[in-house]
Parts: sequence; structure tokens; C-alpha cells
Amino acid sequence: MVNLIKAGSFKLGNLTVKRLGYGAMQLAGPGVFGPPRDRAEAVAVLREAVESGVDHIDTSDFYGPHVTNQIIREALHPYTDDLVIVTKIGAVRGDDGSWNPAFSKNALTRAVHDNLRNLGLDALDVVNLRAMFDVHGPAEGDLEEPLTALAELQQQGLVKHVGLSNVTAKQVVDGRKITEIVCVQNQYNLAHRGDDALIEQLAAEGTAYVPFFPLGGFSPLQSATLSEVAARLELTPMQVALAWLLKRSPNILLIPGTSSRTHLRENLAVADVDLPDDVMAELDGIGVAA
Ligand SMILES: NC(=O)c1ccc[n+]([C@@H]2O[C@H](COP(=O)([O-])OP(=O)(O)OC[C@H]3O[C@@H](n4cnc5c(N)ncnc54)[C@H](OP(=O)(O)O)[C@@H]3O)[C@@H](O)[C@H]2O)c1
Repeated sequence: MVNLIKAGSFKLGNLTVKRLGYGAMQLAGPGVFGPPRDRAEAVAVLREAVESGVDHIDTSDFYGPHVTNQIIREALHPYTDDLVIVTKIGAVRGDDGSWNPAFSKNALTRAVHDNLRNLGLDALDVVNLRAMFDVHGPAEGDLEEPLTALAELQQQGLVKHVGLSNVTAKQVVDGRKITEIVCVQNQYNLAHRGDDALIEQLAAEGTAYVPFFPLGGFSPLQSATLSEVAARLELTPMQVALAWLLKRSPNILLIPGTSSRTHLRENLAVADVDLPDDVMAELDGIGVAA
């Protein structure tokens, strides 16, 4: 079995997690809505992830909604002491599966309680406030009110640590005036490099950066260079994409999402991969920093 410790660890506040984790979004049904096609496999994926040494699971109660958290609870509760479950709030799902902003104090409080109930926890390890000023990605906007509401829930002991998602560098700076920000979760991968400068800045400050869509999300990464490198190294393109992220910066935590144990094994096997510098340079050419 692969030893995930080889890929190193990093801190989320006073918690330490291995850099290879797991993202649970793929465990809900199509469109992240409703029940999964194969619930037994979803439970098996989670159990195998933790048995393999994964101690960082990323989720949200708006996956399903509720479905993903309920599957995590079914598969893993009571949780081992070292398991860190990171969730996010700031949206609710419409009956049609739409994703709608939900930033009022009441909505955020409800979201924290939904996560606590469905995960079966008394306190949440890390809660990311997911900004939604623009559907296409991070955009400036004032997070003071919702972040203050989340910080109050933290003061009540319902939330241990706070992070931000889909945010700009300015929103991170402003957010830190309200509470400690232990991680930033934005879209980033080999082909989507808009956060290069932010990653450097967070690394210098010792803050975790957690790329979502590390494999391209709903549009899996495709590149001739990626395929060539993968063939040469006898890895899959997805493994190369994850290995590139692992080497890209020590503060990057991986949460690739999968609904299959076969893919889970491939993804975790990346702990054994150390890409040579010349390969890193070759892969760097795929993405264009914004
Ligand atoms: N903060 C946010 O706004 C936000 C947004 C999106 C996601 N997230 C978080 O980020 C996590 C990761 O993102 P994601 O799951 O959307 O996208 P992703 O990890 O980039 O890619 C997941 C897709 O890749 C496939 N896949 C996974 N491993 C593979 C492998 N070894 N070979 C081939 N295909 C593979 C999955 O299909 P299979 O199921 O068939 O393996 C799925 O279609 C999510 O689980 C979620 O926790 C956060």
C-alpha cells in the first residue's frame, strides 16, 4: 500500500493533514444533485481512502444537498481522531439543482448546523466561506458581514477554523482582519494558473492553498504535452497532473474527487511520484498564468 506520508503534510490552523487528501463532491448524484448511482461504491471509496491513510476530506452540505455528508457519516462515523473534515458554506441548492448564494447570518448559521447534523459532529474542523460574486471565478466584493457571522459561530465553538473559497488576494487580506484564515480553496490546476502569485504569497505566510478542480473538474484536463509526459513516465495523465501540483508548492493540499476506488488508488499512488525539474518545466508550459 502506498505511504501517503511520502508526500508530506501541512497545517490547517493547529491541525496537521497529509498533503494527499480526498474531495467528496463526486459522491453525490449527477450534477452533484441527489443520490449517487452506486451508494455502496461511494461508501467503499471513503473507507478505502481513510484505510489508505487519507486524513483530510473536503465536503459540503450543499453537495446533494446533504447526500455527501450523510454518506461520509455512514461510511466513517465515529471518526478517527486524526481525520479532518473540511466543509464549505455560502450556497443553497434550488429544487432544480441550481446553486444560489446564501450569505445572510441566518443562512450561514443554518448551513453550519446542517453540516454538524449530517456529519454527526459537535464542531466542524474547518469551514470555508465560499464567495459567489461571479459565477466565473473570484471577483472583488465585501465579505465582512458573512465572515463576521462565521467568526461568531467560531466563537461559539461550533467551528474550529475558518477558510475562504473562490476569493481574491485582497479578500484574504481583508478576511484576516476578522478571523484567522487557515486555507484558501480556489480553482487551480496545470491549465488554470490564475492563482500563481497568490499561492506564492500564501506559501510565504504558511497558509494552505487547496486547489479545487485539480484534475479539471467537470472538464478533465486534456493536453498533448500532459499525455506525452505521462506515457514517458508510465503514469496516467491525471497522476502527472496531481504530481505537478504536489511539487508546485509545499502549501498545496490535494483533494482530487472520485467516485471510484480504481481512480482513488491511482490518485493516492502519486505520493510515490517526484517529478524531475525538467519535467516540471515542460509541464509549466501548459498553463498560462493570468
Ligand atoms: N470550493 C469550491 O467551490 C469547489 C468547487 C468544486 C469542487 N470543490 C472540491 O474540490 C474537490 C475536487 O474537485 P472535483 O472533484 O470537482 O474535480 P477534480 O478532482 O478535478 O476531478 C474529478 C473528476 O475527475 C475524475 N477522476 C478522478 N480521478 C481520476 C483518475 N485517476 N483518472 C481519471 N479520472 C479521474 C472523476 O471521475 P470519477 O468519479 O469517475 O473518478 C471526476 O469526473 C471536490 O471533490 C470538492 O470537494 C470545491
